[in-house]
Amino acid sequence: MSNEILTETHGRVALVTLNRPAQLNALNDALMDALGAALLRFDADDGIGAIVITGGPKAFAAGADIGAMADWSCMDVHRDRFITRNWETIRQVRKPVLAAVAGYAMGGGCELALACDIVVAADSARFALPEIKLAMLPGAGGTQRLPHAIGKAKAMDMCLSARMLDAQEADRYGLVSRVVPDDRLLDDTLALAARIAGYSLPALVAIKESVNRAWEGTLTEGILFERRALYTRFASADAHEGMHAFLAKRTPDFQHR
Ligand code: CAA
Repeated sequence: MSNEILTETHGRVALVTLNRPAQLNALNDALMDALGAALLRFDADDGIGAIVITGGPKAFAAGADIGAMADWSCMDVHRDRFITRNWETIRQVRKPVLAAVAGYAMGGGCELALACDIVVAADSARFALPEIKLAMLPGAGGTQRLPHAIGKAKAMDMCLSARMLDAQEADRYGLVSRVVPDDRLLDDTLALAARIAGYSLPALVAIKESVNRAWEGTLTEGILFERRALYTRFASADAHEGMHAFLAKRTPDFQHR
């Protein structure tokens, strides 16, 4: 079992902690392999409804491991898909994934947060894509997800100048979902995840898929996708339970079906 990450569960919430504090959680392949495997495991676990990824107080993650990749050749990277091979795994996860970010979220660390569905930032959180300083490029979705998240003008500024955003700026620009005090970060994110995980899982999955469609396709396709997702809700026992519970003024008893 790798110690590059730590995992635990809190009821229906899985918590994954990136655990290379001496390297500010630099994302080497061992860590990313372990993270990818943990995400797939929790995604397949019926007892889990939401997943939280967090780092440490100084860094969520300071990016891809520069020491590991400094001497790779272009063919090394093509052959083994170093750095990028686990990023598609994150996209495959059907359950909601929340990032709880304190400290530096730089390069691949910022891209990891961008790949999550909800980003809760502590006051200390700092976001940057500083790859240009290395004559590299944000290559784990950064040049694609950041413009979607904060618009082209702000994204170009961050990617081309390595500008770092503090938590309040990141909140204003739409890079994060909410900002909390550092000492509340984990408790508040776990509470949010527990609230989400208490809802009907198939409905959560359908909503996540539909919102992601808004990023990835045209409005016409997205509306059609959403309509089908809505119609499919009527096949769900939980949807009928949710509506009848509302009418009867009682708490719904979701079976995640
Ligand atoms: N890779 C490897 N090691 C890293 C690292 C990284 N991305 N970031 C930090 N570290 C290591 C440092 O080398 C240092 O190790 P030693 O103690 O052995 O010297 C340790 O973590 C602590 O870092 P610092 O001493 O630099 O801490 P600081 O507080 O002075 O600065 C920082 C913090 C501003 C985050 C600084 O560490 C930094 O700029 N890190 C690099 C950030 C970066 O360039 N990220 C992009 C990487 S490329 C990428 O991510 C590509 C992609 O899209 C996939």
